[in-house]
Amino acid sequence: MGNWKMNGLKAHLGEVETIGGIAADHREVDVGLCVPATLIAAAAQVRGGAFIGAQDCHANASGAHTGCLSGAMLAEAGASWTIVGHSERRQDQGESNSDVAAKALAAKAAGLNVILCVGESLDVRDAGDAEAVVSAQLLASLPDGAAADWLAIAYEPIWAIGTGRIPTMEAVDVMHRALRGALASRIGAEADGMRILYGGSMNGDNAAELMAIADVDGGLVGGASLTAGKFAPIIEAAD
Ligand code: G3P
Repeated sequence: MGNWKMNGLKAHLGEVETIGGIAADHREVDVGLCVPATLIAAAAQVRGGAFIGAQDCHANASGAHTGCLSGAMLAEAGASWTIVGHSERRQDQGESNSDVAAKALAAKAAGLNVILCVGESLDVRDAGDAEAVVSAQLLASLPDGAAADWLAIAYEPIWAIGTGRIPTMEAVDVMHRALRGALASRIGAEADGMRILYGGSMNGDNAAELMAIADVDGGLVGGASLTAGKFAPIIEAAD
C-alpha cells in the first residue's frame, strides 16, 4: 500500500493510472494507494487494478466536525481502504490509542478496510523496549471485532519514516513475530491471517528482503509510492 501523505495534485493522476496498470498485471498482490482525500474520487476513476484508500477517517459518522471526513464520505468518493493511527497523525493531531480504535471501527462500519499503524520512537528502540512498547500500543489501539478480512496492521518505526534508515532484518523479524503474538493473545487464531505490513523507508532495493521475512505480509510505502517508477519494483518484490 502506498501512502502519498500530503502529496499529489490532479497532475499526478497519471502515476495512479500507471500504478493501476502494473497492479492489474500482478493480481496475486493487493496493491493500493492512499491518496489525499482531494484525489480519491479522481483516482478511483483511473485506478485500474489498484485499490484507492484514504489516510484518516473520523470516528463519528456525521456531525459538527469542521474539516473532517467520515467513513461514508470516503467510501462514497471511491475509497475502499483507510489508514488510521499513522504516527504523523498521532504526533501532529494528538491522536490517542483509543481515538485510533474508534476511527478503525467507524471506518469498518462504513465498509472500509483498515490499516492500523503502530511504531516506536528512536528513544524507545535505543532503550531496548521496542517490542513491549509497540505490542502494548497495538493492543490499546486494536478495535473490537478485529479480524483479518477487514483489518491489517502496519509496523512503522518512527525513526525509519522518510529517513532512509531501516531496522536490521532481524529486528523487523523479531518485531513482527511479537506483534503476531500480541494479536494472538487478543484474537486467537484470527491473528494468523491478519496482514502485518512493514513501513519506513521501504524501497525497490530493500523490499524483497523485507517481504521475505515470514511475518512481513507487505509494505506501507511513503516516498517510494509517489511514482510508478519507484513503486513498480516494490510491487514486483511482493509478487
Ligand atoms: O506510511 C508510510 C510511511 O510512513 C513510510 O514513509 O517515506 O519512509 O516510505 P517512507
